[in-house]
Amino acid sequence: AAVGARPRDLVGLRVVVSAGGTREPIDPVRYIGNRSSGRQGIAVAAAAADRGADVVLVAAHIEDTVLAEASARANVRIVRVETAAELGAAVGVEADRADVIVMAAAVADYRVAEVSSHKRTKEAARGGAITLGLVENDDILAGLVRDRREGQTIVGFAAETPVDGETLLERGRRKAVRKGADLLAVNEVGWTKGFESTENEVVLLDGSGSVVGDVRGAKRVVGDALWDAVVGIRGGG
Ligand code: CTP
Ligand code: CA
Repeated sequence: AAVGARPRDLVGLRVVVSAGGTREPIDPVRYIGNRSSGRQGIAVAAAAADRGADVVLVAAHIEDTVLAEASARANVRIVRVETAAELGAAVGVEADRADVIVMAAAVADYRVAEVSSHKRTKEAARGGAITLGLVENDDILAGLVRDRREGQTIVGFAAETPVDGETLLERGRRKAVRKGADLLAVNEVGWTKGFESTENEVVLLDGSGSVVGDVRGAKRVVGDALWDAVVGIRGGG
């Protein structure tokens, strides 16, 4: 459907969308990041805003040109974060008042155990290989599902690489059941697939792993399909 052809069916809804890739510091000049561009999350936030929702966009690393696609709207408030811990805290602050939370951000699973206050040097490492200790970050989505309040809808994203012997749908189903979100948007990624693209292809699964949507097209089209599914789940469709 064309942008603008949608009804303003999200008026009165308070929405939180996280987007972009977190960065976990190693030292003052280095970090561990990921290839998320934030484009899909931005498209989800823009679609919600255009359909009338009040949107809080919790933005991890996203290029300014991409962020600008959502920031021009009066009903989008942006909270910028860097690390997974900051993202979790920012989403936590907003979650109480939110009717719908969409975790589109690529959240680092691990952070550096001991962040160096000064730049690490080869000299200090005395040559050869080094080992970087990592500790697991809290699963923000799992926490949201655990603390979900009555009437709140929680949506996750899963970017999967194909693995021998298991289809994308099978992997997505397992994750949907494990995560327990109301909706999980599953897409395939790879070395040359998914990240900087303006197009996407996702399967939407409910909390039991059943397919409730299947959409391919511009990331904005995927964003609108996600909100269609949310409206359906919430019983307004
Ligand atoms: N997520 C999160 N907090 C984390 C990691 C992930 O909230 N620490 C969210 C993501 O924003 C996404 C969903 O969980 O909406 C699924 O992320 P994914 O990385 O696919 O799931 P994981 O449980 O981390 O599984 P995997 O081992 O495949 O990375
Ligand atoms: Ca992960």
